[in-house]
Amino acid sequence: MAAPASKLPKDFLWGFATAAFQIEGSTSVDGRGPSIWDSYSRIPGKTLDGRSGDVATDSYRLWKEDQALLAEYGVKAYRFSLSWSRIIPLGGRNDPVNPQGIKFYSDFIDGLLEKGITPFVTLYHWDLPQALHDRYGGWLNKDEVVKDYTRYAKVCFEAFGDRVKHWLTINEPWCVSILGYGRGVFAPGRSSDRSRSLEGDSSTEPWIVGHSIILAHAHVVKAYREEFKSKQRGQIGITLNGDWEMPYDDSPENVAAAQHALDFAIGWYADPIYLGHYPPYMRTVLGNRMPDFTPAEWKVIKGSSDFYGMNTYTTNLARAGGDDEFQGLVDYTFTRPDGSQLGVQAECAWLQDYPDGFRSLLNYLWKRYKTPIFVTENGFAVKGENEMPISKVIKDTDRVNYFRGTTAALLKAINEDGVDVRSYFPWSFLDNFEWADGYGTRFGVTYVDYATQKRYPKESGKFLVNVSWYSPLYW
Ligand code: NOJ
Repeated sequence: MAAPASKLPKDFLWGFATAAFQIEGSTSVDGRGPSIWDSYSRIPGKTLDGRSGDVATDSYRLWKEDQALLAEYGVKAYRFSLSWSRIIPLGGRNDPVNPQGIKFYSDFIDGLLEKGITPFVTLYHWDLPQALHDRYGGWLNKDEVVKDYTRYAKVCFEAFGDRVKHWLTINEPWCVSILGYGRGVFAPGRSSDRSRSLEGDSSTEPWIVGHSIILAHAHVVKAYREEFKSKQRGQIGITLNGDWEMPYDDSPENVAAAQHALDFAIGWYADPIYLGHYPPYMRTVLGNRMPDFTPAEWKVIKGSSDFYGMNTYTTNLARAGGDDEFQGLVDYTFTRPDGSQLGVQAECAWLQDYPDGFRSLLNYLWKRYKTPIFVTENGFAVKGENEMPISKVIKDTDRVNYFRGTTAALLKAINEDGVDVRSYFPWSFLDNFEWADGYGTRFGVTYVDYATQKRYPKESGKFLVNVSWYSPLYW
């Protein structure tokens, strides 16, 4: 029987993803200024293994080798981020641009294009210039940060927009605001929990920061559309983290809880940007701690993304009655009512493998926001990989199974459900600096031996390379 034709678009982009601070290292060379993650990761106790981002995978120096490996993998695209403080060391709109920073990324982009690899560029992946935090509180100061971020973005469009046609404004704003200003486990480490932080107010700051980020994103998109798009002809959007929230059981309160969890995790950012309002449930819970936008601001925000950038890793079972405001007063678990686990457990507590959730999330986003979806991150950290010999790590069966499940779910969403998906970027190209978890949690499809900086492709890398995206037989 002939297999039905796949509806995967011919220009579907697949490749691997990384971020500047997680791989570059070389934090004080060629004029780069410090970022909030430089300072935070150097404070003893802030990362699990006590290590900072100062060396990471040394990719600032090894970028040519890295690109050769990407070409060997045969990727069509590569998602990476630009370091704001490499480009404008002090970050501000009146601060000087660093020509060495521009040259580094310009050569990097040329290198990719020479190999036929499409650059997919994130402007902000969490490494705010430290000077902006010190000067005025960084993301806490909407008026200042919007102007500084817009100027930084324009510098990037001017320098690279002739060659870069896919832009992401901000990566995972939920993590920036909740983890950086609520739980206090990410830079700049602000929290009401005084065992974690000397400063901060978790009841107000995350919502203020989220508000600044939405506005900063929207202003950058406005600037791109007004000043660059007609000439450069690229696309620009935001990328949001969000996992599928499945009701713990079919009781009405748990069905409602799953939607409440989605409102806080995704709707907080996506509803304003795609629908033009905050989720009403957020206002019910937060009252006037949730800042509002002026009518003029809403005009800039609504419709300010050419697509939906989706980062997703897992599924939670959502149960009513939680007391965690950051999760919309919803309790999360991986344990089903019958006591079984949802899927295979990863190294990090928050991640289990459940591919059906990936398909459900794609459908939910497509129906609710009605905009093409670029999957910009998806991946798995195999449990115990840091303690295994290299020969064993590279046989990463749990990660292969994870990607087998999610790629099949992706193709079903496209072919059977009619969801418009334009890309798939597994996280990550390399094992790298996993933020507060340090280097012990490995998400790479390539193993990095940090003692030698040698790279070893894992089975999962080979699996993804061999996924024939265009073959109807695949699904
Ligand atoms: C999301 C983030 O964008 C990335 O920086 C991080 O390493 C992965 N998820 C895995 O946690």
